[in-house]
Amino acid sequence: MKYTKLGNSDLNVSRICMGCMGFGDAKRGQHSWTIDEAHTKEIIKHGLELGVNFYDTAIAYQSGTSEQYVGRAIRDLAQREDVVVATKFLPRTQDEIENGITGQKHIENMINTSLQNLGMDYVDLYIYHMWDWNTPIYDILDGLNKAVKSGKARYIGISNCFAWQLAKANAIAEKEGFAKFVSVQGHYNLIFREEEREMVPFCEEENIALTPYSALASGRLSRQKGEQDTKRAAEDAYAKFKYDATAQQDSVIIDRVSELAQKHGVSMTEVSLAWLLTKVTSPVVGATKLHHIEGAAKAVDLTLTDDELAYLEEPYVPHPLAGVMAQNKRENAKEKHVWTTGSQKIREK
Ligand SMILES: NC(=O)c1ccc[n+]([C@@H]2O[C@H](COP(=O)([O-])OP(=O)(O)OC[C@H]3O[C@@H](n4cnc5c(N)ncnc54)[C@H](OP(=O)(O)O)[C@@H]3O)[C@@H](O)[C@H]2O)c1
Repeated sequence: MKYTKLGNSDLNVSRICMGCMGFGDAKRGQHSWTIDEAHTKEIIKHGLELGVNFYDTAIAYQSGTSEQYVGRAIRDLAQREDVVVATKFLPRTQDEIENGITGQKHIENMINTSLQNLGMDYVDLYIYHMWDWNTPIYDILDGLNKAVKSGKARYIGISNCFAWQLAKANAIAEKEGFAKFVSVQGHYNLIFREEEREMVPFCEEENIALTPYSALASGRLSRQKGEQDTKRAAEDAYAKFKYDATAQQDSVIIDRVSELAQKHGVSMTEVSLAWLLTKVTSPVVGATKLHHIEGAAKAVDLTLTDDELAYLEEPYVPHPLAGVMAQNKRENAKEKHVWTTGSQKIREK
C-alpha cells in the first residue's frame, strides 16, 4: 500500500479508502444488499492486512449499523490511532427545523450519535454529507468548528457539493477562524467526470484532498456488462438510477477498460482505479467481498502510460448530474432527499 497526506491535514491515509456503505443490517436501511457483521469484520481485517488504514462510513448507512459494525471491527482488530475513520452527518430534518433545533445543535446531536455507534471518542474526519439548503452555512461551520474544538472530530470534510459551495464555506470559515474543509468526497470515476470542470482544479489550487465515491461506478467499471451478475448489481436501485440513463455511451469506455486490463494482465478494477489514482488523493472503494479489497489494493501498483490514460478519457462526453448532486439546488430544499428516501421509492416501484 502507498500512503499520502489528506490535503491540508496531518492525516496520513492509504491511497485506497475502504467504503463502508455495503456494511450493515440489510433490513434497516436503503440498501438490501449489505453484508452482516461477521462478514464486515473479515473484510476490514483483510483491508488492514493489505495496509488500508482509511475507512469511510456514515450515520445514514443502514440506520447507523454500518458505523456500529465498523467501530466494533476496528476496536477488535486495530489500534485506534493507526486508522483514519471518516463518518458523515445528514441535513436537518423538517421535524428538527420545526422544533427549533439549530444547525449547531443538530451537528452536536449527530456526532454524539455517530461516536456512540462507532464506540469511539473521536473521528478523524467528519463529513458534511450533502448540502443542507435549509440551514445557514454559518451554523453548519460553527457547529463543525465546535466539534473540532471539543476533540470529537480531528478534521472536517464535505461531500456532494459544487466548487462554489466549498469555496464559499471555506472563505467564511477562514474569516471566522473556524476549521476549514480539508477534503471533498464527490462522485467521480471514469464514466462520470463532471468534477473536472471546477472541483478538481479548485482543490488542486487549495490543496484540498479529493476522495471520490463510487470510484468504480458501483461495479460498472469492474466488469463487462452481464458478467458475474451480483446481488448488488441486481438490487442496487440507487446505482441504476445514477448510471442506467447513460449506459450505452459509457459502454465504450468500459470496453476500453477491459481492453487495457487484458493487455496488462490485470483486472478491470485495477485499470479503472489506476486512472483515478492519477487524479485524486484516495478513491473510496466499496467492498463487500474479500476479492474486492484485494483488487483495489493492487491498483496502487499499476502505472498506465500517458497514451493509455488518454485512450481511457477520449470517448467521454459530458453527463447530466446524477444522484444527490442532481438535487443540490435551492428549489429542492423542501424535498426529502433522494439519498435518504429516493432509493427506497425506486425499489418499491
Ligand atoms: N458521499 C456520498 O454521497 C456517497 C455515495 C455513494 C457512496 N459513498 C461511499 O463510497 C463508497 C463506494 O461507493 P460504491 O460502493 O457506490 O461504489 P464503487 O466503489 O464504485 O463500487 C463498489 C462495487 O464495485 C464492485 N467491486 C469493487 N471492487 C471490485 C473488485 N476488486 N473486483 C470486482 N468488482 C469490484 C462491487 O460490485 P458487486 O458487489 O456488484 O460485485 C462493489 O460492490 C461507499 O461504500 C461509501 O463509503 C459515498
